[in-house]
Amino acid sequence: MHCRLVCFTVAWLVGGIVSIQFANAATGRQSEESSASPVGTQVAMFELPNAYGKPVSLRDFVGKKCAAIVFLGTECPLAKLYGPRLNDLQAKFGDRGLQVIGINSNKQDSLTEMAAYVHRHEIKFPMLKDKGNVLADAMKAKRTPEVFLIDADRVVRYHGRIDDQYGVGYARDKKTRSDLAIAVEELLSGDEITHPTTEAVGCHIGRTKEVAEVGEITYAKHIAPIFNARCVSCHREGEIAPFTLTSYDDTQGWEDTILEVIGNNRMPPWSANPAHGEFANDARLSEGEKELIGQWVDGGMPEGDPDDLPEPPVFATGWQIGEPDQVIQMRDKPFDVPAEGVIDYQRFVIDPGWDEDKFVVACEARPQNRAVVHHILVYVIPPGGRNVDLRKVLVGYAPGSTPVDLDDGVAIHVEAGSKLLFEMHYTPNGT
Ligand code: HEC
Repeated sequence: MHCRLVCFTVAWLVGGIVSIQFANAATGRQSEESSASPVGTQVAMFELPNAYGKPVSLRDFVGKKCAAIVFLGTECPLAKLYGPRLNDLQAKFGDRGLQVIGINSNKQDSLTEMAAYVHRHEIKFPMLKDKGNVLADAMKAKRTPEVFLIDADRVVRYHGRIDDQYGVGYARDKKTRSDLAIAVEELLSGDEITHPTTEAVGCHIGRTKEVAEVGEITYAKHIAPIFNARCVSCHREGEIAPFTLTSYDDTQGWEDTILEVIGNNRMPPWSANPAHGEFANDARLSEGEKELIGQWVDGGMPEGDPDDLPEPPVFATGWQIGEPDQVIQMRDKPFDVPAEGVIDYQRFVIDPGWDEDKFVVACEARPQNRAVVHHILVYVIPPGGRNVDLRKVLVGYAPGSTPVDLDDGVAIHVEAGSKLLFEMHYTPNGT
């Protein structure tokens, strides 16, 4: 495979286009996890506002046999993916007495953002706003998504994940165990819950903290330069990452998850095996950079003096290789990416109409909807060729990759009559 393609694990269109230029022719630190299981404890009554500000109380559901209280966030990739699945659960078990209740305790998610999430993911169960993470604290909830299944006496009978299909950094083709659905079935049937506890995986709830902003490490002076250099290429509007990291406000509530993902080198995505030497474009943060971010969080995440802010990075818009000689669409209509699940590689063969040999000096593959394109590979199928020659990659795309732009005098030779194969890897994002 193309060595400059950094493929990262879970990932994510609609249409890919390739443009071509021809020669001559056209920290390890983590907030403490308490391991005491809440199973068997009773949840106190609560009342919280929904996305429209209307108060909703647990009392409103008296008469239901059980409720799945699920902590969610509007930007966490896992919380997005599981939105539709919770709708399905509500539809499946609603008549038999289940009520799904979504709770948003993230300080970074406003009521408006929560309403937008409900609308975008067509959420059919109540979504309530837990301002100041009071309920999350009372229930000791840590992640999104994290489920507490309670019975009619408000006693927690199951705690943990929804199922095992998606984790951070991976997705299985299928779930192998629908933990929540099984627990609901068992509870409604009066059976014992076979696995009352599983591990909830996902982002940390963005909590309100009473930490004085005393640190000397500030966002403006020390942290913004690191994020601009290492994160913003993906974590900005319209790019593949699920939330932006382009301003001080963007960082609020994400700190615990950021510390976790940089601590275990999940972010920035970089899968090259260090056993094979050093790479010039190694994306990982240095220990010094991680340490600075850690000190900044410990010091209360001070914003600092806006005069210290670096110039925002400038990204090429449009074609990075300059004006192309030819633009080739993957096909004449877009591909519909479903809201969830795992999609097999999609392959589209196109005849670029080349009736003479071509010498390609620059080439760029571009997704239309970056949020759901994990990667693109464009192969050359030589004339008369039946099988794709996997060595004949013309160009690839993955977030963070650069286009093919060859040095003077060097070109990729493509025979007259060749076709192009677009291999598309799409990754659903809950919409
Ligand atoms: C090459 C693109 C890219 C770069 C660079 C990048 N990210 Fe991400 N980031 C992503 C994608 C894509 C996801 C969603 C992953 C998923 O769906 O699991 C993500 C998710 C996250 C999450 C949510 C938790 C998770 O794992 O899903 C955090 C926090 C995060 N990134 C922080 C950072 C920080 C901090 C940096 C820089 C130090 C960074 N990222 C650099 C693409 C990137």
